[in-house]
Amino acid sequence: LHVTWDAVSAERGGFQHFMQKEIHEQPKAIRDTLTGRLDEDLQSVALPELSWTDESLQAIDRIHIVACGTSWHAGLVGKDAIEKIAKIPVEVDVASEYRYRDPLVTPNTLVIVITQSGETADTLAALRDSKQKGLRVLAITNVVGSSAAREADDVLITWAGPEIAVASTKAYTTQLVTLYLLAAYLGQARGTLSSDAKAEVLGALAGLPTVAEQVLDAAPRIERFAKDYQEARDTFFIGRGLDYAVSLEGALKLKEISYIHAEAYAAGELKHGTLALITDGVPVIALATQTHLYEKTLSNIKEVKARDAFVLGLTWAGDEELKKSVDEVIYLPRTSPVVAPIVAVIPLQLLAYYAAVVRGNDVDKPRNLAKSVTVE
Ligand code: G6P
Repeated sequence: LHVTWDAVSAERGGFQHFMQKEIHEQPKAIRDTLTGRLDEDLQSVALPELSWTDESLQAIDRIHIVACGTSWHAGLVGKDAIEKIAKIPVEVDVASEYRYRDPLVTPNTLVIVITQSGETADTLAALRDSKQKGLRVLAITNVVGSSAAREADDVLITWAGPEIAVASTKAYTTQLVTLYLLAAYLGQARGTLSSDAKAEVLGALAGLPTVAEQVLDAAPRIERFAKDYQEARDTFFIGRGLDYAVSLEGALKLKEISYIHAEAYAAGELKHGTLALITDGVPVIALATQTHLYEKTLSNIKEVKARDAFVLGLTWAGDEELKKSVDEVIYLPRTSPVVAPIVAVIPLQLLAYYAAVVRGNDVDKPRNLAKSVTVE
């Protein structure tokens, strides 16, 4: 069974491209993904669709997250959230690697596959291999009747609605929301979620639709930035911790649709090679949302600035420091740094979108790429 979206729901709704429409749908998609899962008093997370008994939930001793592309990037953030909140060790693998690497598992390993379409061949192979080993598999997918949804033991749907553009946007942010909900759910069941952490995470999740709305207001500025950098050939995205995970997604977006060469680097790793490529005017997008890593990131930003890179920084509104070390700053509405990836990725999606538009590219159908890769 495949759910196909009807022509009316698939319309561009006044936007120039599906990708633009889908970027702007994120506040609603995030709200829909939270609905019914977060109680109104922000005291608990409910995921009634999971069939786990309390015993099986307590028994999970490791988690393997397996996915491709943007969904893999969501997995990297999911690892951080689950390890921090639920204290369960997590590994994240690209599906095409996982299926051939004979991963070390225990009987109580939970395998989580993340797939927007639910049809990606490598991800499905990883799902099937894991089931064959007798492991419990949870699928996080956006398509209710997809193969992943049907074959996994448990399913969490991301309520992003149909995603038409090849470059994934609202599927990514709703995957992140789902992973945070799952982390909090596991944490609450296993007693690792302190009341302070609960207030911080659940409060931040509840506030996300509004925050996402506010971030979208930056679109005209980002459009101008994309125009100024029309001639760029190489770009670098840098950040530490969660900012590094988001940098990977930002670089992928830019590559996919603008065809500009983009690389993401853990900011502290620059000195081991990439600094050699930073020369006069090379655009560097520097993410600085992780408060505990702020000073370290700032010193990496100063390193690229000293080599005359053109630096666009991303940090929280109210920050007075970053602007002294970069050329331009995009300020994000304040929320918990724990959920920063959901907020910080939106300007990067917009940057990729406008960079592709000014180049006259086919934004929704980039060359050589498919929305769903159903063959190996
Ligand atoms: C393709 C798409 C990407 C997507 C990846 C994984 O490469 O172009 O946007 O992230 O497949 O797809 P999935 O449906 O499994 O999330």
